[in-house]
Amino acid sequence: MMIRDLIKKNRSYRKFYGDFLIKRETLEELVDLARLSASGANKQPLKFVLSYGESKNKLIFPNIGWAAYIKDWTGPTENERPSAYIIILGDKQISQNCKCDAGVAAQSILLGATEKGLGGCIFGSVKKEELKIALKIKDEYDILYVLALGKPQEKVVIEKANSRGDTQYWRDNQGILHIPKKPLNEIILE
Ligand SMILES: Cc1cc2nc3c(=O)[nH]c(=O)nc-3n(C[C@H](O)[C@H](O)[C@H](O)COP(=O)(O)O)c2cc1C
Repeated sequence: MMIRDLIKKNRSYRKFYGDFLIKRETLEELVDLARLSASGANKQPLKFVLSYGESKNKLIFPNIGWAAYIKDWTGPTENERPSAYIIILGDKQISQNCKCDAGVAAQSILLGATEKGLGGCIFGSVKKEELKIALKIKDEYDILYVLALGKPQEKVVIEKANSRGDTQYWRDNQGILHIPKKPLNEIILE
């Protein structure tokens, strides 16, 4: 797939085939894409926690916040939940400021997942202290983002943001998720 098509297909998916399994090997291939990506001063402060089984997944699910704009929906049902998660940690001893590294890593992982026919979502809304305790993550690490991954069971369409600059995503009565994107001529200044 060409990069434009890959990026268009790489939407934030929040409903999945709940009984689909993702192997550890697949997650390792995805983290390897992050490993090969850009890093400020090449310090490589990121660490990754993998989860791909029911019991560990259950510890992560209650600690992430789903689609704040969609008020009548609190997240996927039991049989729509992600198959796996990759938690992106920052090693505080190496860098105190690695959110950009984490963003680059997240995009590499999600593009790799899309190429494999998978999909997922970045979560910045994370109950970090609760999740650290649940997964026994050491204090030397900051939780930066949680990536949820699975086989998407959701239709997502990109549409042009309206002239009022309203960028809130919304679900229509057929369950299709609409993602308004601003036009190019609004974001390139001169
Ligand atoms: C840094 C960052 C944090 C995000 N955090 C959340 C989150 O906590 N919960 C959620 O449901 N989506 C989260 N998202 C997904 C965005 O809502 C999504 O990217 C946006 O609606 C545009 O949709 P698209 O990714 O399909 O283009 C996050 C995305 C980014 C880049």
